[in-house]
Amino acid sequence: MDQLLIKGPTKLEGEVRVSRAKNAYLPILAAVLLTDKPVHLKNLPALRDIRTMMKLLENLGVKIHRNGDVTTFDASNLSSHEATYELVKTMRASIFVLGPLLARLKKAKVSLPGGCAIGTRPIDIHLTNLEKLGAKITLESGYVDAQVDKFVPKRIALSFPSVGATENLMMASVFSDGETIIDNCALEPEVDDLANFLIAMGAKIEGVGTSSLRVTGVKEFKEAHYEAIGDRIEAATFIIGAAMTKSKISIRGFDPLHLRFVLTKLEEMGAQIERLDDGVIVSANGLIASDVDTAPFPGFPTDVQAQMMALMTQAEGSSVMNETIFENRFMHVPELKRLGADIKLKGHTAIVKGKTVLKGAPVMCTDLRASAALVLAALVAEGETVVDRIYHLDRGYEALETKLTALGANIRRVNVGS
Ligand code: UD1
Repeated sequence: MDQLLIKGPTKLEGEVRVSRAKNAYLPILAAVLLTDKPVHLKNLPALRDIRTMMKLLENLGVKIHRNGDVTTFDASNLSSHEATYELVKTMRASIFVLGPLLARLKKAKVSLPGGCAIGTRPIDIHLTNLEKLGAKITLESGYVDAQVDKFVPKRIALSFPSVGATENLMMASVFSDGETIIDNCALEPEVDDLANFLIAMGAKIEGVGTSSLRVTGVKEFKEAHYEAIGDRIEAATFIIGAAMTKSKISIRGFDPLHLRFVLTKLEEMGAQIERLDDGVIVSANGLIASDVDTAPFPGFPTDVQAQMMALMTQAEGSSVMNETIFENRFMHVPELKRLGADIKLKGHTAIVKGKTVLKGAPVMCTDLRASAALVLAALVAEGETVVDRIYHLDRGYEALETKLTALGANIRRVNVGS
């Protein structure tokens, strides 16, 4: 098992380029199942979740060929319609194959993703709306067993703008006979990116970027080339890192509009941010407290909540973090407290008192974004922090320690056996 050893406090300087977004590529990879034509995807990030999704595709019969920074997928001969528990248990995003398998093969058997560290995360919005569009679904022995004769084009409204449900329903509707309208859909940039990829393959989708997606069925797809958007969550992690270490760095490779709420909030707290076409330059000399509520896009992303709480420990005054998306997403709190953070929890709300001098200590990753928060806190903590169980971090941050080292951090990966 690998650990990160981080010596602080550190100042960062220079420029960092973020990878392509994992959360955009995961549904795009699932959408490959829709087509019998070749798909060429550029700059897939080297991440555990991406490898898991590719393994799942291979299990379903997809041939994958890598040539430099382009990976080509051939899903012309699918050999299975079943996503087994062995793969699904390690990654909830496996549920993305449900819509495409149904649209292409008219049947799908996908293991239920089950609980996960940050909450129960049900898939009822996916299933009830697939049923409304004509799928017959049974839940048996831990599997979603689904069949459909033909998806019926209809107007449906999601009870909550779920990212994954919007993506699954959009993929399910691409071949129906007519127009499917998905109201109250998610507005996250990764949803737009999936829509743009489907359009590149030949789908007809209107209303991209609005809360009403209109998908008109087409008969077939064509060969497609695509590169996903830059990772806004990785970008936010570096931006917060710069602000809390009072550094000046440039973060490139993403669209600052995808982080508009985060950037405005950081400016309110004292950071200086220059917006560029493909990134930002951020600096800070000190921070003041502020309150944050997580919310669906364009609000403050739940995936940046943990990192923001690490920053709040370095802001003068009392900050309040209110997590509204997931019910159990404060597992970084006890770990941040081990470093000396002053945080009180009350239900979905955390009160962070700053500014605190953090001191290096052994800490443990509990989920992906919680791990990023611990790395950020370790950058400002005095002495050495040992971050354990970093396989969580490897699910979603490509070469994080290499990128941070290039910015001047004192960070090292060590293997300590199993
Ligand atoms: C995606 C992101 C994840 C991010 C989340 C919210 C990917 C691979 N993951 O996850 O990083 O934190 O969006 O921005 O893109 N819900 C239900 N029933 C459902 C579906 C969702 O109750 O059928 C609830 C969830 O439990 C959660 C909330 O809705 O409380 C948001 O979930 P959702 O938007 O679906 O997130 P994911 O697609 O799982």
